[in-house]
Amino acid sequence: TVLILDFGSQYSHLITRRIREFGVYCELLPCTQKMADLHFKPKGIILSGSPYSVYDKDAPRVDPAVFDYGVPVLGICYGLQEMTLHMGGKVEACDHREYGHAMLTVTKHADHPFIDLLFEGMEGENGEMQVWMSHGDQVTSEPEGFRVIANTRTAPFAAIAHEEKHFFGIQFHPEVTHTLNGKTLLRNFVINICKCQDSWTMESFIDKEIERIRQMVGPVGHVVGAVSGGVDSTVAAKLMNEAIGHRFHAILVDNGVMRLNECQVVKKMLGDKMGIDIKVVDAADLFLGRLKGVEDPEKKRKIIGNTFIEVFEAEAALLDKEHGGEIEYLLQGTLYPDVIESISFKGPSATIKTHHNVGGLLEDMKLKLIEPLRELFKDEVRELGRLLGLDDELVWRHPFPGPGIAIRVVGEVTKEQVEIARLADHIYIEEIKKNGFYRQISQAYAALLPIKTVGVMGDKRTYEQAIALRAITTVDFMTADVFSSFEWFECLKRISSRIINEVQGVNRVFYDVSTKPPATVELC
Ligand code: XMP
Repeated sequence: TVLILDFGSQYSHLITRRIREFGVYCELLPCTQKMADLHFKPKGIILSGSPYSVYDKDAPRVDPAVFDYGVPVLGICYGLQEMTLHMGGKVEACDHREYGHAMLTVTKHADHPFIDLLFEGMEGENGEMQVWMSHGDQVTSEPEGFRVIANTRTAPFAAIAHEEKHFFGIQFHPEVTHTLNGKTLLRNFVINICKCQDSWTMESFIDKEIERIRQMVGPVGHVVGAVSGGVDSTVAAKLMNEAIGHRFHAILVDNGVMRLNECQVVKKMLGDKMGIDIKVVDAADLFLGRLKGVEDPEKKRKIIGNTFIEVFEAEAALLDKEHGGEIEYLLQGTLYPDVIESISFKGPSATIKTHHNVGGLLEDMKLKLIEPLRELFKDEVRELGRLLGLDDELVWRHPFPGPGIAIRVVGEVTKEQVEIARLADHIYIEEIKKNGFYRQISQAYAALLPIKTVGVMGDKRTYEQAIALRAITTVDFMTADVFSSFEWFECLKRISSRIINEVQGVNRVFYDVSTKPPATVELC
């Protein structure tokens, strides 16, 4: 295992992804992690970049024990600067912030071939390599015992190394694709320098995780979990089913704001096809009743979140009775990015929107938490789903928010309004799939705008509501771009005409062309 200490760079998770891609298991932890408290013994440590300068008043600092742990350390950008300061070198602000491509020249060390290992196989024909820089400070004097191993035109200390300690520091970012062969550098570090084995695979993860679940739950324990029809909860449920069969109980709460035919589809897929014990609870009227007259987006979310907890708890209690009080665990499909976010040294970022999840359940229910996906990224969950035999269609499903169509009906959420949005969305997604755009888009949906405008149908004047279509591309949903191409606009025109013809009460369709930020993915 390799330990990556995160100083808050937007690229930190990429380091983790790259290393796992070539089969070495690694964990990303906040830079404040104390080495004495680690639950594993890393064979190497990587210090990430950071939005901070090492001279900022509140700059994050690493546990000095990192440098006495006795394993190789690779500092990237801020990590290099942190290492340099700690070991007695000098870091100063650059005249200009350096951002973008740079050409790196490597110095060879015939007397110490070990330090040449870092750049092995990376150089182009002229001995140079293209790297990606993004920094405001740089090293201006290397610490004692270090050698310069590469430089660029503007950074004479672009890479340094300490041959006995096996410490390396690089100013550029090997984890981004703009650094050509950056992956080779990370591989050189973890395989050739740290001597890690590249035997971590998703198959081995499945076997280990199933074993871990069985150990945790024991021979008679039961587990309950909410499923939504999304990738994460389905993959988690499938894994539980493989581990403990019908001692895992899935609950699907129909909150009245789900997609068209969603409950039947999910019940069929999880229950009939995958053999999971699943109960569908119809609570649509309860949810819609409580949403009556509510227009404020945050209020909608709160009502749905709280009502969900109430319904789920009641159902779980019934199941517990049925199974002799043996329900001990609550399954959650938490992913690695959620874990990282909640342990970040920066503290919780400002709440833009309250995301609905089942976190509140634990306190009330006295259940222990089981999170089989907590070490995985989204694309790894998809891969896991594929290996567990889930349909491609499910594995590649776009995300759907917990408060569902309620946050896609602007203004008051009534049964009638939900039905309009639901039908328009169904047509939209059906056409997206039929025209081959689904996998190119990260998330798409139709929303209902409660504004009436004038139109003409046949020879009649209409005065009806509007549908807004959204389609975005994104990697992490923190920022998003609008999906667009000529073919797509042609397709949108056909979709618009279908929606206006087939959905009663709609006479106009808008396409949302706002990026995130400043807009968000959902309208509410
Ligand atoms: P926003 O609108 O915040 O959406 O830009 C980013 C991503 O999060 C999803 N989303 C939610 N998911 N409960 C969820 O489970 C929520 O309350 C919620 N709000 C937004 C949204 O669909 C997008 O994928």
